[in-house]
Amino acid sequence: MKALILVGGFGTRLRPLTLSVPKPLVEFANKPMILHQIEALEAIGVNEVVLAISYQPEVMLNFVKEIETKLGIKITCSQETEPLGTAGPLALARDKLIDGSGEPIFVLNSDVISEYPLKEMIEFHKSHGGEASIMVTKVDEPSKYGVVVMEESTGQVQNFVEKPKLFVGNKINAGIYLLDPSVLDRIELKPTSIEKEVFPKIAAEKKLHAMVLPGFWMDVGQPRDYITGLRLYLDSLKQKSPSKLATGSHIVGNVLVDESAQIGEGCLIGPDVSIGSGCVIESGVRLSRCTVMRGVRIKKHACLSSSIIGWHSTVGQWARVENMTILGEDVHVRDEIYSNGGVVLSHKEIKSSILKPEIVM
Ligand code: GDD
Ligand code: MG
Repeated sequence: MKALILVGGFGTRLRPLTLSVPKPLVEFANKPMILHQIEALEAIGVNEVVLAISYQPEVMLNFVKEIETKLGIKITCSQETEPLGTAGPLALARDKLIDGSGEPIFVLNSDVISEYPLKEMIEFHKSHGGEASIMVTKVDEPSKYGVVVMEESTGQVQNFVEKPKLFVGNKINAGIYLLDPSVLDRIELKPTSIEKEVFPKIAAEKKLHAMVLPGFWMDVGQPRDYITGLRLYLDSLKQKSPSKLATGSHIVGNVLVDESAQIGEGCLIGPDVSIGSGCVIESGVRLSRCTVMRGVRIKKHACLSSSIIGWHSTVGQWARVENMTILGEDVHVRDEIYSNGGVVLSHKEIKSSILKPEIVM
């Protein structure tokens, strides 16, 4: 079986992190987002994954080399010369995806995190005999997503409305599809949206079916959702492989700590924290609902909550960092600074407090 992952968006909503690396390579729970997906695809027997790239190809190509040697899966890149949207890349990669086997093809948005019930999805796809299956999930704020109106008993999709202005329903497209090869015949090689142009047509022919995704789901392409997604992911990890979570008297709730990270005396860490490789957390630090990326140093008695700390940054002693503060790569926050929702671009030094949410360039 083959799969295509859409990795071409600019990831603007996750800046400044996506100014350093493409969104699919931003770590989520200590692993590039896209690696969660590639591992799930490999686990159910997908043998080739095509990455649909539209910008920063070099970085992706390096990643691919590294991952191909670690995992037993073939990864190829299909590179656009202009962004082709969410359907055009399928036309571009047609020759890589169609191999005459007639098997359906998985297509994934690169920023969605879930337990990836892909085996169940294959069963579902076989059971309805339509042309395409999509996973749906319920959310509180459907207007941010593609909304799916379906017949509850059969799963047949009646209507697909991308980012509706008016309420049409609360079941949304989870960004995980299984498509018969014939769907590719519907797509021309030009910028095209699968959500706006392809799915509505297949739905009108009653050949699009939706499966309600079991377990958690989150599009982690924006900071607030990223932090929420980490909580859901760690909750699920706690159920499935609790041994991967940190333990000890300094840990509260679900916390993921890379084995190479160092944690000092008298810290209190958690809930819902991930600490990346090579991090140094000095003594007396308090962390909750945070992601601390690779190579970060948090100095003594700093207190961080609901924030993302980019690669190789430092947070000074007695600093207080909270309320969706996002530090880009290599940011240095001086001692005793307060950041209330500061979004700080890479390579900056923060010498005075950020009292209200703002972007620091
Ligand atoms: N190759 C390529 N080329 N990929 C692209 C392009 C492009 O021109 N534009 C976007 N992508 C990729 C993004 O990298 C991402 O993986 C995926 O397509 C979806 O783009 P987003 O920008 O993340 O879309 P969204 O989050 O606003 O909405 C989409 O996802 C929702 C679920 O998270 C839609 O599919 C919605 O219907 C859906 O509900
Ligand atoms: Mg998205």
